[in-house]
Amino acid sequence: MNVVILAAGMGKRMRSRLPKVLQPLAGRPMLDHVLDATEGLSQSPRVVVVGHGAETVMAHCEGRTDVAFALQAEQLGTGHALRAALPQIDPAAPQTLVCLGDVPLLSRATLGRVADEAAEGGLVLLTVELDDPTGYGRILRDAEGRVRSIVEEKDATPEEKRVREVNTGIMCLPTARLAQWLAALSPANAQGEYYLTDVIDLAAREGVRISAVHPQHVWEVEGVNSKAQLAELERVWQRAQASALLDAGVTLLDPARIDVRGRLECGRDVEIDVNCVFEGEVKLADGVRVGANCVLRNCVVDEGVEILPFCHIDGAHVGAGGRVGPYSRLRPGAELMGGNHIGNFVEVKKSNVGLGTKINHLTYIGDADVGARVNIGAGTITCNYDGVNKFRTVIGDDAFIGSGTELVAPVTVGAGATIGAGSTITRAAPDGKLTLSRTRQVTVEGWQRPVKKR
Ligand code: UD1
Ligand code: CA
Repeated sequence: MNVVILAAGMGKRMRSRLPKVLQPLAGRPMLDHVLDATEGLSQSPRVVVVGHGAETVMAHCEGRTDVAFALQAEQLGTGHALRAALPQIDPAAPQTLVCLGDVPLLSRATLGRVADEAAEGGLVLLTVELDDPTGYGRILRDAEGRVRSIVEEKDATPEEKRVREVNTGIMCLPTARLAQWLAALSPANAQGEYYLTDVIDLAAREGVRISAVHPQHVWEVEGVNSKAQLAELERVWQRAQASALLDAGVTLLDPARIDVRGRLECGRDVEIDVNCVFEGEVKLADGVRVGANCVLRNCVVDEGVEILPFCHIDGAHVGAGGRVGPYSRLRPGAELMGGNHIGNFVEVKKSNVGLGTKINHLTYIGDADVGARVNIGAGTITCNYDGVNKFRTVIGDDAFIGSGTELVAPVTVGAGATIGAGSTITRAAPDGKLTLSRTRQVTVEGWQRPVKKR
């Protein structure tokens, strides 16, 4: 089947420079959610109808071969938008599925139902019963319960407004009839637009079979026209993510205080405290515990690791059995082999940290290869950057780095070496020996502290 996504509208009520369909939900543009849900449904590229902010929307999809664009220069209504897409669709595909760029949470399962029903022939509408149908087009049925037409809120009589079954905007139409139906639309309505919904009346008159299917969840078909609706839908989505995690056996200290903006995969007996944010692809293995107020992004945390509160972990791998935090920052390329202790105000970037190595306080480790069982004292800095180039620091197994040490890279500390506290190390420190660089301590006899004059 063909897939057309209507995304040309301005989204005036968003009051934003960003086109409506690029407004993020769960950390990703609404359009991306719709593209995910429709992935693989069409043999030919899916057609996105762009208009308002067309260049920004097209730039966002740059490099995709599974998406084509149709420009709707003037936004004269949803029927007009679909007409703009006609030259791009495959006329040989029997059905054409229409989705809306501002209805982001449609699930693949629900779309599957629409597709299955459409395979039986005729026209398929995705409809839903709402307690408060205000703002949506209403589904009008005849005495036998057959769908007759759709009337928009602004054109509906008070009696029609009482109908609670609404059009979700998602429908599947017979491709062969499209051009003719769309050409027959008239803008003689309250909004002066070419309504796609008027096609239903035309189809019904021609005796085309019209069926209605319903989504699994009502929230799947909620449209976003304002920041308030976007925020509401964000909460609905997060609540659904939390429920899925609970169903999978994850302990959430408060399911209302977790945000998953991407995909979070959890093993058994994972525990997550309040106010944690997960972005991109995050994997937490069995028994991982995440303390309150952590942000984890594109990272893998192995079995049994404990992450204490206020950590920021991005693009890192934390090997099994370690402890991170509170207040630790692991940046891209941080590879902790396992059994590590990373403490408060410690930053690790693009570094390998060997088994059992401890970096407990106030330290920066960047561009380093640190061996196993190393102890790095408080306030240690790898000086890895000369303003232009980055250099590596290599520390051997079982080394002990005294507190307040500066390791000026490129530099090597040997296995079992000890570095005296307060050293600035600029040359290789040999294996198994104590190396230090410190000015000798003096005490000045007879010195007096200045005193303030009265
Ligand atoms: C539309 C439906 C309504 C349905 C509701 C569900 C029509 C006439 N009305 O109303 O029955 O209940 O969706 O959310 O179809 N768009 C274009 N070009 C245009 C106009 C709109 O691409 O000229 C796109 C918009 O970007 C948006 C979508 O179509 O993604 C829906 O348009 P919108 O104006 O929001 O329609 P609604 O009034 O919500
Ligand atoms: Ca809408």
